[in-house]
Amino acid sequence: MSFAGPKEIIAEGDTVVLYLTPALMHTIDAVPQIRNKKNETIEYVFQTSFGALKVRDLIGVRYGARVQLTKGWAHVLQPNPELWTQTLPHRTQILYTPDISMILYQLEVRPGSIVIESGTGSGSLSHYFLRAIRPSGHLHTFDFHEERVAKAREEFVAHGLGDNVTVRQRDVCEKGFGDELDGIADAVFLDLPAPQLAIPHAAKALKNEGIAPPKKEAEWHNRQEPRGSDMLFESVALTSCPAAGDGGRICSFSPCIEQSMRVCEALGNCGFIEVQNIEVLQIEDIVRTRNVPVMELDFLKTKRTEGEKDTKTPRESKKYITSSAPNSMAGHTGYLTIAELPPLFAR
Ligand SMILES: C[S@@+](CC[C@H](N)C(=O)[O-])C[C@H]1O[C@@H](n2cnc3c(N)ncnc32)[C@H](O)[C@@H]1O
Repeated sequence: MSFAGPKEIIAEGDTVVLYLTPALMHTIDAVPQIRNKKNETIEYVFQTSFGALKVRDLIGVRYGARVQLTKGWAHVLQPNPELWTQTLPHRTQILYTPDISMILYQLEVRPGSIVIESGTGSGSLSHYFLRAIRPSGHLHTFDFHEERVAKAREEFVAHGLGDNVTVRQRDVCEKGFGDELDGIADAVFLDLPAPQLAIPHAAKALKNEGIAPPKKEAEWHNRQEPRGSDMLFESVALTSCPAAGDGGRICSFSPCIEQSMRVCEALGNCGFIEVQNIEVLQIEDIVRTRNVPVMELDFLKTKRTEGEKDTKTPRESKKYITSSAPNSMAGHTGYLTIAELPPLFAR
């Protein structure tokens, strides 16, 4: 139950992140015993590059504490979607935090949102959706792979997230998302090899009302009194923003531009508007203090006479805070194609 909310102390059964270095972390279940390949119950001893850990010793330890390994130490952390993405057992390719933050922002998911996702894959993105929509929202996630569906379901329950997610096994390109989800979704996300086939089904599942018509703005234009100050107009314009829950957004992840072009075409055919294609590239800025030599430009002012020799004076240097790009950086992951389904009256 360690994803559901902040906790102080590790309880038996919690999923715990064992943090060795920034690049070396493991998630383990805090249980005293496990079953070996011969199906015998044995003491759970977890091996790391800094030695072994008797997992039963974690129960009752404070999250964030340092724990002793046989050849070093580690910190025990409460998992969150970011740490889970870095340590989860990969059953498929997964999405990572830089793309995921853009997906959440573009889909405008918030507590209470109804989100449809396919495919579930390894559940990396699902955990972020669940954090964003809880406590009152719901995630409907689909995958056609039986084992992946079963494993994801098991993980969501073990992580204390089971009440906010329904995992279904279905080929969404062929069969869609089901009549029961017609017109209820605030957002749909697709990470599929042929997402263009699922887009007509997504249009059916998104909320029919679309963006609420700007009623207050219409009232403003129809009213009898003379126009007031800009300040008043501003406040009216703000209240005409779409109400929470209205509107339908879609996002599809495509590793190549050809797939993203097929998605754009399908979105246009299904009445989606404001289609955008985004690529997220994470660039690290390396900031450091450097001694930079001051350029000696005096020689430009005076003409050197013939036969005059170069006199080498030591060059002055000054300390500057500099910023530079790293030698290597994370490259292309994919394109995010985003669009809005307008209200029925505007289609
Ligand atoms: C790349 S993975 C998704 C990874 C996921 N976004 C994550 O972050 O963990 C793609 C998944 O889509 C599923 N899939 C492919 N075609 C499908 C279809 N037509 N209907 C449902 N699921 C499908 C695959 O089984 C696979 O698990």
